[in-house]
Amino acid sequence: MNSKSLTCCVVFLLYTSVLSSTSPSSPIHINSTTSTLNVTLPHSLSQSLEDLALKTLTNQHHTGSLYRAVLPRNLSGIEVSIVRLTGKSLWNAGARFSNVLIPARSVSVPPARRVAIVYQNLGNWSNHWYTVPGYRLITSVLGFRVLDVSDQDNVKEISLKMKNPVQILFRDLSDEKMLSRVSCVSFKAQHEDKEAAGISRMILPGVCYGSSHGDYSVIEPLEKDKKKKVASWRTWWWLWMVGLVLGFGVSFFILYLLHAYSTKRRLNVIKMEGLKSYNPMSVNVKS
Ligand SMILES: *[C@@H]1O[C@H](CO)[C@@H](O)[C@H](O)[C@H]1NC(C)=O
Ligand SMILES: *[C@@H]1O[C@H](CO)[C@@H](O)[C@H](O)[C@H]1NC(C)=O
Ligand SMILES: *[C@@H]1O[C@H](CO)[C@@H](O)[C@H](O)[C@H]1NC(C)=O
Ligand SMILES: *[C@@H]1O[C@H](CO)[C@@H](O)[C@H](O)[C@H]1NC(C)=O
Repeated sequence: MNSKSLTCCVVFLLYTSVLSSTSPSSPIHINSTTSTLNVTLPHSLSQSLEDLALKTLTNQHHTGSLYRAVLPRNLSGIEVSIVRLTGKSLWNAGARFSNVLIPARSVSVPPARRVAIVYQNLGNWSNHWYTVPGYRLITSVLGFRVLDVSDQDNVKEISLKMKNPVQILFRDLSDEKMLSRVSCVSFKAQHEDKEAAGISRMILPGVCYGSSHGDYSVIEPLEKDKKKKVASWRTWWWLWMVGLVLGFGVSFFILYLLHAYSTKRRLNVIKMEGLKSYNPMSVNVKS
């Protein structure tokens, strides 16, 4: 009886400890990390998309209207658009075009006379150029660049301020439940062919914040490995339990056999002694 309750206790403790060690199917607590990526077509792509967008702009002259750039066939699936604004209006009112919300006063001062904002959506090419080890992109990569186009022959990037970050909107992601699972990722060109990825927590569904030019997307950790790990834990746990039960069963059986054997032997001894005492010869001799 004592050993039984002890076994129960041990099993219970093991069970709870195993459960508590497997239960962290927890959200990722990464605030901001950087890693180098496997980017096959880096900076040059952005540059050529930007050039194509600027070419569109020279043919169209409406300030404040968003124009879609015409891309060569071998880039179909990518969307690039461009808007031209006065530096003053960008400074005073910000800009809300495409999926990017640039708040007022988020570009560095003094604002340029004329600015253009290039937006790009890499669409089905996103996975082709960007991979984050251990993660999966769940949206296409969106990018933007704010350019000083006051001088057509000397187009420059305008730097942004950290204080009023730009919002990049991923409209398909509106479910609050996924906030614990997904993260924002930003890709910044560093060298010729190396890019750095900054990973940060998503706070509002479908909104990522950026304080620099670059490409943005949303990632989630690859589930397979985690599931496998949990599965293997479970398997080990079950194997262990089965082993435990079998072990107890076998020891009880052996104990039972030993007990039965010793009882039988004792019986035999008694029988033998009985036989000894009942010896017809001796009886004969006596009589
Ligand atoms: C992560 O960000 C949260 C708020 O977003 C902050 O409270 C926490 O201190 C940060 N943790 C680290 C390790 O930076
Ligand atoms: C980078 O990607 C290419 C193909 O896209 C692949 O062959 C190569 O192994 C990858 N390198 C790393 C370090 O992941
Ligand atoms: C697309 O084609 C142009 C020539 O028409 C070429 O210069 C460019 O490198 C190609 N881009 C890609 C991504 O294949
Ligand atoms: C993306 O889709 C377009 C058609 O919409 C196709 O022509 C193109 O090859 C695709 N690109 C990639 C990298 O799959």
